[in-house]
Order: sequence, then C-alpha cells, then structure tokens
Amino acid sequence: MSSHFVAGTLITRDQINTRIAELAEEIERDHPGGGQILLVGVLKGGFMFMADLIRFMTNRVAVDFIAVSSYGKGTKSSGEVRMLKDLDTSIEGRDVIIVEDIVDTGLTLTYLQEILKARNPRRITTACLLSKPSRRQVDVKVDYVGFEIDDHFVVGYGLDFDERYRNLPHIAVLGQG
Ligand code: PRP
Repeated sequence: MSSHFVAGTLITRDQINTRIAELAEEIERDHPGGGQILLVGVLKGGFMFMADLIRFMTNRVAVDFIAVSSYGKGTKSSGEVRMLKDLDTSIEGRDVIIVEDIVDTGLTLTYLQEILKARNPRRITTACLLSKPSRRQVDVKVDYVGFEIDDHFVVGYGLDFDERYRNLPHIAVLGQG
C-alpha cells in the first residue's frame, strides 16, 4: 500500500498573490465599466482563488458558485463530470467569468463552458489559477491563466487530495511513497 505526502512547495503564497493581482488587473482592463461582471466560482477547489481574485477587483462584480465533480477518490481523472450544485442566478446578458483552480484534461471546463454558453450570457471567459497543458485531452480556451505547471499532482490553496490539504496557503506537490 502506498502513502502520500506533501513533497515541497511549487508556488509560494507570495507568487500566488502577485500573479492574482496581475490577473485581476487584466480582467478589469478587458471589462471596462464592469457593471455586468459575474464571477462564477467552481467548487470546491476554486473557492480560495475566487476569494483572493475578487479582493483585487475594484469594479462592481457579482459572484455565484457552481459545483461539479470530475474525480473520484485518488489522483486519476475518471473523465466524468457531474453537476452537484447549479448557479442561483440567471446569467443571460451578463459577462460571465468562470473561476477555476486548475485545468487538467480540460473535460470539466469544456462541460462548464458548454452548459453556461447555452444560457445566453453576453460574454463568457475563463480564469484558471493553474494549467497543466501536457494533460489536455480536449482543446479548451482559457483566457486568464495564473501559472502553467508540469504534470505534478498538486494540492493546497483550495486543491485537495481526498479532501485533504485544501487549507495550505501555497501550492505543493504531492509525493507518493
Ligand atoms: C478538479 C478541478 C477542476 C477539475 C479539472 O476538480 O477543480 O474542476 O478537477 O480537471 P479536468 O481538467 O481534468 O477536468 P475536482 O473534480 O477534483 O473537484 P473539487 O474542485 O471539488 O476538488
């Protein structure tokens, strides 16, 4: 039987903070006025990124949350996406920004973009803190990427392994031994 452990820091709290400030600025530049912006946080992993991103935004924004699940227990993607909680509000005519912690195979994000586009937002874009390009199975558009990373299993800053480590303030690599 193998055990897992946090092997080391991949991205520090300071690096995350600096990058999120840049992303917020970029997003606001692309959405002048900002009155229509709805940030859609993807639970659970996206909650910490969402909380920090919104604190760097100065224009009027609204938030809502959606919950999906693509992974079972363990580190492998099942390829299946399940909707666990839908939005509370209508997105018709609004500028929607999906806020995700990580895009890996791209299956979750493709699903989210498709179902949300069908609800006729004025515009829909995506912000992901982390992206693993080498793992992509579908070509999905991510407009704002925090960091591109290699194929490590990462935890912390909202990301879990079996519901653990979401509370780490930085991004760490999970080792197996
Ligand atoms: C993670 C992450 C993304 C998805 C990315 O969620 O938050 O939603 O996987 O993987 P993909 O690009 O291969 O589809 P997870 O299902 O682990 O749920 P959680 O956010 O509740 O931890």
